[in-house]
Amino acid sequence: MAPPDSKVPGRQPDFRALSARPQYFKGRVIRFSILLTLAAFAILQLHVNLYRSKALGHQLPGSSPDDAPFKWEDVTPTEQLIYHPCFEIYECARLELPMDWNRTDGKGSKIALAVIKLPAKVPVTDVRYGGAILLNPGGPGGSGASFVFRYGKAIQTIVDSAESPSADPATGKYFDVVSFDPRGVNNTTPNFSCFPDPMARKAWSLQSEAEGALGSSETAFDTRWARFEAFGMSCSQPSAESSENEEWIGPFMNTAPVVADMVELVERHGEWREQETERLLSTAIDASPHEPNLDIEAIKLQNRWNKGQEKLLYWGFSYGTVLGATFSAMQPHRIGRAVIDGVCNANDYYAGMWLANLQDADAALDSFFEYCHTAGPTSCPFARGHGGPEDLKFRFEQLLTNLTSSPIAVAASGGRGPEIITYSDVTLLVKNSLYSPLKSFEFVAQVLADLEHGNGSSFADFKIKAKKWNGPPSCDPSSKHCKVPGESDSEAAMNIVCTDGPGIDGIPKEVFRSYWHTLRGQSKAIGDFWAEIRMSCIRLQTRPEWRYDGPFTGNTSHPLLFIGNTYDPVTPLQNAYAMARGFPDSIVLKQNSVGHCSLSGPSLCTAKAVRQYFQSGELPDPGIVCEVEELPFHIPGYEKQQVMSPDDTALMSALHLLGETSNLLGV
Ligand SMILES: *[C@@H]1O[C@H](CO)[C@@H](O)[C@H](O)[C@H]1NC(C)=O
Ligand SMILES: *[C@@H]1O[C@H](CO)[C@@H](O)[C@H](O)[C@H]1NC(C)=O
Ligand SMILES: *[C@@H]1O[C@H](CO)[C@@H](O)[C@H](O)[C@H]1NC(C)=O
Ligand SMILES: *[C@@H]1O[C@H](CO)[C@@H](O)[C@H](O)[C@H]1NC(C)=O
Ligand SMILES: *[C@@H]1O[C@H](CO)[C@@H](O)[C@H](O)[C@H]1NC(C)=O
Ligand SMILES: *[C@@H]1O[C@H](CO)[C@@H](O)[C@H](O)[C@H]1NC(C)=O
Repeated sequence: MAPPDSKVPGRQPDFRALSARPQYFKGRVIRFSILLTLAAFAILQLHVNLYRSKALGHQLPGSSPDDAPFKWEDVTPTEQLIYHPCFEIYECARLELPMDWNRTDGKGSKIALAVIKLPAKVPVTDVRYGGAILLNPGGPGGSGASFVFRYGKAIQTIVDSAESPSADPATGKYFDVVSFDPRGVNNTTPNFSCFPDPMARKAWSLQSEAEGALGSSETAFDTRWARFEAFGMSCSQPSAESSENEEWIGPFMNTAPVVADMVELVERHGEWREQETERLLSTAIDASPHEPNLDIEAIKLQNRWNKGQEKLLYWGFSYGTVLGATFSAMQPHRIGRAVIDGVCNANDYYAGMWLANLQDADAALDSFFEYCHTAGPTSCPFARGHGGPEDLKFRFEQLLTNLTSSPIAVAASGGRGPEIITYSDVTLLVKNSLYSPLKSFEFVAQVLADLEHGNGSSFADFKIKAKKWNGPPSCDPSSKHCKVPGESDSEAAMNIVCTDGPGIDGIPKEVFRSYWHTLRGQSKAIGDFWAEIRMSCIRLQTRPEWRYDGPFTGNTSHPLLFIGNTYDPVTPLQNAYAMARGFPDSIVLKQNSVGHCSLSGPSLCTAKAVRQYFQSGELPDPGIVCEVEELPFHIPGYEKQQVMSPDDTALMSALHLLGETSNLLGV
């Protein structure tokens, strides 16, 4: 959940700019963004590698050949899933759903759920069509549209048959990869926002950043407290614009209605599949030379919309495990497959306590010193001297202590203005790095080594880059009507978290202070940041219209696959075992790595277990432990030096790309 960081509010990648500079990650370069504000709620800057393949030969009805860029608002929301070509190789739909699922009079506001699909490599009429796998990237408040746009292809490489469709006999399966922007998030409308305009949001976030994280000074707690009071009060009321007979989205963004949205999405997919089958069969009777024996009736039967019985295929990360567990508990008969990856304890989450996250956080931090020491100074610049990991840790702590009284001054240079590097900057950077050690530890080691010498220039460059803000495109940033989708996602995240919890409006400050100390006791590395998640709820009055808070048990129609890492900084392995107990026959796959969710460490073993699960439904053996192929600082991993098969090579490149996501996947 609480996203490690995020996209700085307002920072909108533009599709063209991104596709113009595909970035491949190569060991040393690390760029991840800093959480500038509401530490808990930002989602990290992603690295994007766009796949530009146009290999998918299927032209959709209504797709126009002109190259006008796709805009969500040009699509009319519909009750059926109607896909439109978007972003070159994807298809997008806006599904109209009731804002209030409990309203029976058929009136009331609607939401338009932004749905994105990377189409399967075979048409639905092919016997190898496997259905649609729905993803949730976490957050809460993570944009599924953005996730599939960036990583859909890589996910498809993992879940699809290892063979290409032309080489595969009739046994493999090929899947659509689908996700959506949850209620109040990004391209799903209406949006949820607590600021009148982007400038106000930016000013707020820069000020909070400058004040420093909890624990950074004597006054930080009190200042943050006041800030979250103001914030909560501002998010509790509908904006003046909403009229009387229109409901306000605030009470309808929690997880239970999202499960209802997913049920509807799964049903509408069944309807779409049936219609698409009819359409292809009627237009292509003579047009499928490679399938001369097409048994039309059998295909129609197989693809018939199973009204009210359609099943979910799902892979959820981090908060997406709360969503997956909630769905599994509320709709156990609808589970086709569900991978629950980077597991939250749903009971703790719905209790709003956030006390079941940091059990392994400090072990994850310790791994930094251990790996650094093992790698030595050539790979880990912070590894000078003769001491062991404990000495590195001691120097790190001393550096932090020094920073509290003496932030490092950095002179302007190049295009960058003057900067300072503070205790909060360093602790935030280190915290974020624990989500994705493989991608981040080297950069952290370099920064720490520099800072020890009083040199803050590389960190300052990084900080400025992360903060860089272009403002909303082509309009006056102070204008109320100049809003960019996604810029208020951290506010949406806060509202989801707070309305999923029991509500703590009015909690006494001293009670909260002792809660904060409890979290600090759990983890020195993350406790201070973690307390801000719950703190964001202190004055939020909004209560959800309909809430589900357990029990998280169920005889699911197919067993669940849980995945946990040895040391996940925010979703400890023990949660995977605890949650699995509620779901008979489910299996826990342990990935032997440090980082958040399985994608943070490339593991062929994990990828193949997930593929097998989607391909045939088969679960790995109980007690399975998967090793990773690579470790931080280029320390050799499990199979690294072996000659890889073409399939393993393809999987590894998908996993490398996906390794960039883990900053995004907050719990
Ligand atoms: C809302 O609907 C759900 C299921 O549709 C039901 O379980 C729940 O009790 C309803 N809540 C209210 C307040 O009516
Ligand atoms: C911290 O400050 C002390 C005293 O000023 C100094 O001796 C030490 O080298 C500093 N350590 C680091 C890591 O900056
Ligand atoms: C500071 O560190 C950077 C990058 O690590 C290096 O390029 C630069 O020369 C250093 N500056 C000084 C004054 O040592
Ligand atoms: C968010 O909603 C408000 C009013 O509900 C609207 O004025 C604004 O344009 C929306 N912002 C975006 C980015 O759609
Ligand atoms: C919102 O979705 C678009 C795709 O339509 C994506 O490019 C963008 O990054 C998303 N924004 C956020 C904040 O996730
Ligand atoms: C699952 O089924 C078993 C036996 O069929 C039953 O004893 C158990 O109560 C069921 N559990 C749930 C959560 O429904």
